[in-house]
Amino acid sequence: MKPLRIALTKGRLEKDTIGLLESAGYDCTAVREKGRKLILPIGDGDIEVVLAKAADVITYVENGVCDLGVVGKDTIMENGSCFFEILDLGFGKCRFALAGKGGRSAEEFFSGYGEKTIATKYPNVARNFFEGKGMDIRVIKIEGSVELAPLLGLADAIVDIVETGSTLRENGLTIIEDNVAPISARLIANTASLKLRKAEIEALAQKMEEERRKSS
Ligand code: PRP
Repeated sequence: MKPLRIALTKGRLEKDTIGLLESAGYDCTAVREKGRKLILPIGDGDIEVVLAKAADVITYVENGVCDLGVVGKDTIMENGSCFFEILDLGFGKCRFALAGKGGRSAEEFFSGYGEKTIATKYPNVARNFFEGKGMDIRVIKIEGSVELAPLLGLADAIVDIVETGSTLRENGLTIIEDNVAPISARLIANTASLKLRKAEIEALAQKMEEERRKSS
């Protein structure tokens, strides 16, 4: 049988997932010593880790070339969901918030006239959020450091991830609405894999869940 393939979001989620898998008893030496390799065996070689960018994790899982994936809820909310979300892994916690310049209250912001311009790395999340408020907005997609957009006068506000709040604080931006959506890392599964390799996937998910419980 070919190895079960799990796509991990490179970076912090990768490190946290590898930590969780190691505490669940999987040997992850190959990932720890990976160099520039992108597909690596873990455990007895019955699982293969694929290292990818967040949105690509979803692409690989949706298309069935990876059975499982670890990705943030932010990426899931932005990029659709033709897969099963099977476990909240509890790490990578942060939230989506609406923030802007000048300490404006939510009341002030939402009652103002005129179409607002919102800068974000997450256009779908931003559109859905404002649709829920019955507000038409103009969305400008920014690739990184979205805090720059209101500072440079390009946008009225941003919809972005907030973890510690220090990026906002250090750039003189304040939160207008904090509860846009909570985020954490999720284990996702390809729909066909979940049927065809149910026992293996459930065994792995169960071990990950047990370890997550112990560490929370
Ligand atoms: C994210 C996010 C904020 C920052 C929030 O950016 O877009 O800029 O982290 O974290 P904080 O609340 O702890 O300050 P990231 O570090 O992913 O970089 P990027 O903006 O270049 O994508």
